[in-house]
Amino acid sequence: MEAIVLLGAPGAGKGTTAEGIVAAARYAHLATGDMLREAVKNGTEFGKVADGFMKRGELVPDEIIVKIVDARLVGGGKDARYMFDGFPRTLEQSRLLEACLKQQGGSLKHVFFLEAPRDLLISRLTGRRICRSCGRNFHVVNIPPKKAGVCDLCGGELYQRSDDQESTILNRLEVFRKQTESLVAHYERAGVLVKIDAAQHRDVIIAKVLELLK
Ligand code: AP5
Repeated sequence: MEAIVLLGAPGAGKGTTAEGIVAAARYAHLATGDMLREAVKNGTEFGKVADGFMKRGELVPDEIIVKIVDARLVGGGKDARYMFDGFPRTLEQSRLLEACLKQQGGSLKHVFFLEAPRDLLISRLTGRRICRSCGRNFHVVNIPPKKAGVCDLCGGELYQRSDDQESTILNRLEVFRKQTESLVAHYERAGVLVKIDAAQHRDVIIAKVLELLK
């Protein structure tokens, strides 16, 4: 099993970069945020617990994350290649990933740390719009759809995530600083961290990641 991680503050462009990687390279995209939103939508046991944490912009407890990630890794096999987006977010979660990779004889190839200034993160998140049908990401200014409110790909309705209100965004950025940023030093010490200037155009970022994955 091989794994790569997209690490970065809310709005750094993890999901946008992941879309580009999946289109060009054989990686299964595992985004814990998407898995949790699906669980909330379906009203599952985990979804009911996660909902309040997500609305406040806080991290969902590690016990839940461990279970949902574990369930997705079962039966992946030795040739599986995973791209984690938004996971791990705590040292405890990084230990889970390391244990899992060890058990399967796999390795963590790269952790791509997408770095962007705070003002840019805030403007990206307040302007983000997502397609209700296919999940494609847009931005009202940076990556606008051809027709306002309508997905270019499938014609679906574009919506704003409930945690993309400015007060929740500020809390999410603070949570990242307090609970996730220490992973940067952790992975730097492990020799797998690649820093990427996330203020660049998305095509430049995707090309750089793909080059390093060759
Ligand atoms: P999650 O869904 O993972 O959200 P996040 O980490 O806050 O990150 P975002 O999805 O908001 O941003 P992104 O970096 O993917 O940016 P994007 O590409 O969309 O988590 C949500 C919640 O779930 C958490 O708050 C927590 O409660 C819970 N959770 C999830 N995982 C967890 C875990 N492991 N442990 C505990 N709790 C967990 O881009 C943003 C915008 O910018 C878009 O509009 C996009 O079009 C635009 N954009 C992106 N890149 C560029 C670019 N290069 N140039 C111009 N515009 C760009």
